[in-house]
Amino acid sequence: MHIKTDFETLIESNLKRRSFIKNSVKLGLASFVLGGTTSLASSATTDLLGFEQIPANSLDTVTLPEGYSWDVVIRWGDPLFSGVENFDQNTRGTAASQELSFGDNNDGMNFFLLEKDHGLIVVNNEYANLEHIIPKKVKTKDDILKTQAAVGLSHFEVKRISGRWILQKDGMLNRRITAQTPMALSGPAKYNDHLKTAEDKQGVSVKGTWANCGQGKTPWGTYLTCEENFNGFFASSNDDVQLTKDQTRYGVKRSDWNYEWYKIDDRFDLSKEPNEPNRFGYVVEIDPLNPTDVPQKRTALGRFKHENAEVVIADNNQVVVYMGDDERGEFLYKFISKNKYVEGDREHNKKLLDDGTLYVARFDITNSEGYGEWVELTFGKNGLDESSGFNNQGDVLIFARRAGSVVGATTMDRPEWVAADPLSNDVYCALTNNKNRGKRSNAGGDSTPVGGPNPREANLYGQILRWSPMNGDHTNHKFTWDLFAMAGNPEVHQGLKAGSQNINKHNMFNSPDGLAFDSSGRLWIQTDGKYSNEGDFAGMGNNQMLCADTNTGEIKRFMVGPVACEVTGLSWSPDQTTMFVGIQHPGEKGRKSNFPDGEGKVPRSCIIAITKDDGGIIGS
Ligand code: FEO
Ligand code: CA
Ligand code: CA
Ligand code: CA
Repeated sequence: MHIKTDFETLIESNLKRRSFIKNSVKLGLASFVLGGTTSLASSATTDLLGFEQIPANSLDTVTLPEGYSWDVVIRWGDPLFSGVENFDQNTRGTAASQELSFGDNNDGMNFFLLEKDHGLIVVNNEYANLEHIIPKKVKTKDDILKTQAAVGLSHFEVKRISGRWILQKDGMLNRRITAQTPMALSGPAKYNDHLKTAEDKQGVSVKGTWANCGQGKTPWGTYLTCEENFNGFFASSNDDVQLTKDQTRYGVKRSDWNYEWYKIDDRFDLSKEPNEPNRFGYVVEIDPLNPTDVPQKRTALGRFKHENAEVVIADNNQVVVYMGDDERGEFLYKFISKNKYVEGDREHNKKLLDDGTLYVARFDITNSEGYGEWVELTFGKNGLDESSGFNNQGDVLIFARRAGSVVGATTMDRPEWVAADPLSNDVYCALTNNKNRGKRSNAGGDSTPVGGPNPREANLYGQILRWSPMNGDHTNHKFTWDLFAMAGNPEVHQGLKAGSQNINKHNMFNSPDGLAFDSSGRLWIQTDGKYSNEGDFAGMGNNQMLCADTNTGEIKRFMVGPVACEVTGLSWSPDQTTMFVGIQHPGEKGRKSNFPDGEGKVPRSCIIAITKDDGGIIGS
């Protein structure tokens, strides 16, 4: 039996209170849009989640509710240009073919409408899945270069033809960005000594981006790609090299994650280029409408393991960007631009992310809901000066994690995607899990006490945090917060491990990660968790996508992914009749999957398009 704890009772009463307030707010909006034809009473029962929930499963396919279909739009290795050989099941391509084909391990993405039934998809390719991209033990130089060509981003045009979105080879805006694409360092850390290398003595330009995880889209039509686990691509040819505290804080080690880039290029060798890792871990702004645009690493948004970048325009037109640092016991951040967004002035807006103030979140951790504040990370304030090892604002931004520790930021359970509700001022963040909670400090030595937004020791399942800026103003430095949901397994556990009241045996999941609102206000939740379907995770099946009504707290399972995949990345056609969803690394870690091409074929990360058979809005 599921026994309610004080904590859950609090969450439940909170949900009811929220529901009352938010229904009033949202209904106000709905009535306005619908010309006042909707009465308050009838709308209070409006069912935002109009689909039949599906059960969990462990099948090697995509499962959707009755009345929905899916179709593959693009797969790892599909050529973006003519004249490039098709994906070879045996060799899995060469560096040259990979450089002009869809990258591996697609993650965050966005759809940009170009004209009716014609769009551009910009998508991150987080990393190269070595077990599938190089199916042999010893790597040649071309193999290593192939992995450098498989990361970064893919831009490709699609057209809707007879209801299906079809890749447009040679589209004017098609582009690959890889670990070798020239990009600029911009903002306050440009010219900083910690960014200077033999190749770039001024600290102004970098080659490439990788570990591109979640994303952001600006109202001025640029794409933000977020560099996350950049550390795993560096190593040292000298085993005796001394690592600095800052390198250790960011997970940089003497050995890499088997990519061996350092064997063919000194810039990945820590014993030769100790500053090169300082040039990764940023939010990078790309103009997808210009295929020769030089991507800009926006140092003003801080350097950490960026998950995504959720952009909100505050009431006064300042730009606010919410960002998580996905590592056990790391922090939650926000950036506020100095200058204001000016609708229609693209050149002005494209400079907004170079100048502003970075903040880190501090929560009241003595209660299960309550207050929090954003603490400024500015050189000369809050103890951020020479005494704490910073000489200028560039240092504060490059070593933002250390700055967060100095000001006493709250250690979190791995902040993944942040999503702002388009119909209210609430903001949500997936705190995916944290086996170290209450057990181990973070890499900077900050303790990780159980409590507040991180209420469970050795957190197995994750939770979804929600906050509201004071007075509904995203530039306000204070906020209130609560937990929208705590994932758990009510079939296996009682108490906190059973999850919050809106989790039950029919919708349970673990490790929320991708999080995004559609324009109707549905909150979509993607998972990156354990898919063993056993023990603590029994009954949860493969990774999946759920949908929540934040008015009522209701959560329903909408999609189940194939074997050993992560479901990550989502975007919509503007009419919301197509939802693009990312299936990342099916068949990882030796699990048997042949998704999406079928029996005997190598599993391939891909983007699928989901449509409703009656042509309606997804989820309605
Ligand atoms: Fe690339 Fe934190 O996920
Ligand atoms: Ca993620
Ligand atoms: Ca994750
Ligand atoms: Ca993954």
